[in-house]
Amino acid sequence: MNNSQVLNQVRFFAQQKMQNDQTGHGFDHILRVVKNASYILEHESQPADPMITLTAAYLHDIADDKLVADPQQSEQQLQQFLTKIGFSAEQNKQILLITHNMSFSKSLEKPISLPFCGQIVQDADRLDAIGAIGIVRAVYYGGAHQETIYDPAIAPRSEFSKAEYRDLTHETIINHFYEKLLKLAKMMNTATAKQLAHQRQQFMLNFLAEFQTEWQGKK
Ligand code: ADP
Ligand code: NI
Repeated sequence: MNNSQVLNQVRFFAQQKMQNDQTGHGFDHILRVVKNASYILEHESQPADPMITLTAAYLHDIADDKLVADPQQSEQQLQQFLTKIGFSAEQNKQILLITHNMSFSKSLEKPISLPFCGQIVQDADRLDAIGAIGIVRAVYYGGAHQETIYDPAIAPRSEFSKAEYRDLTHETIINHFYEKLLKLAKMMNTATAKQLAHQRQQFMLNFLAEFQTEWQGKK
C-alpha cells in the first residue's frame, strides 16, 4: 500500500468508530481536525512527518476515556489495526504517544511535552474547540450531558483536577468557556495555529458579551 492508500484505510477506520457520536466528537470533527493539521503542516517551517501527524489526527479521539467504556481495549484494537495496515512498531508507538497524551483533560493530570507532530495534532484539535464551531460543540456537548446553560450564581472554577473537570453537577455551558475554551488560544504550540486562533477567540468574546447583554435584558 502507498501512503495515500494507508491514509484511506485510516480514514475509513475512524469513520466506522466515530460516526455514531452524539457529543460533538463525530466524524465531522475528525475531518476538520485533519484539515487543520494539514494546514498547519503546510505552513510551519519546521518539518513534521505527515503520515504520523495525519494518522494521529484521524485517530486522536478513538480511545478517549470520555467517549469509550474501555480505553485500554480501544488502544489495543488501534495498535492491531495500525500494524495490520503496515505501520512499524516505532511508528505505532509514536502515534499512540500522541493520541494518548494530547487531550486537555490529560494535561490536567500528567502533562508531557509532545513531539512536534503531536503538537500539530493538539493545535488542530484545539482549533476545532474554539470559534463558531467551538460554540456549537460546547452547546451540543452540554445538551448531551444535561448541563445547565448558565447560572450567574455559579462562578467559573480557576483550578480543577481531571475528575472535577468531568463532574458537570455544578458546571454550566457558559462557564466552560472561561474554564477552558478561552484559554486555548494562548496554549497553541505552533505560530500557524496561534494566528488562526486569534480571530476565533475574538468571535467567542463577542458571543459572550452579546450573551450577557441579552441575559441581563439590556437593549
Ligand atoms: P479533550 O478531549 O481535549 O480533553 P474535552 O473533553 O475537554 O477535550 O472537550 C472536548 C470538547 O467537548 C470541548 O472542546 C467542548 O466543546 C466540549 N466540552 C467538554 N466539556 C464540556 C463542558 N463541561 N461543557 C460544554 N462543552 C464541553
Ligand atoms: Ni478531538
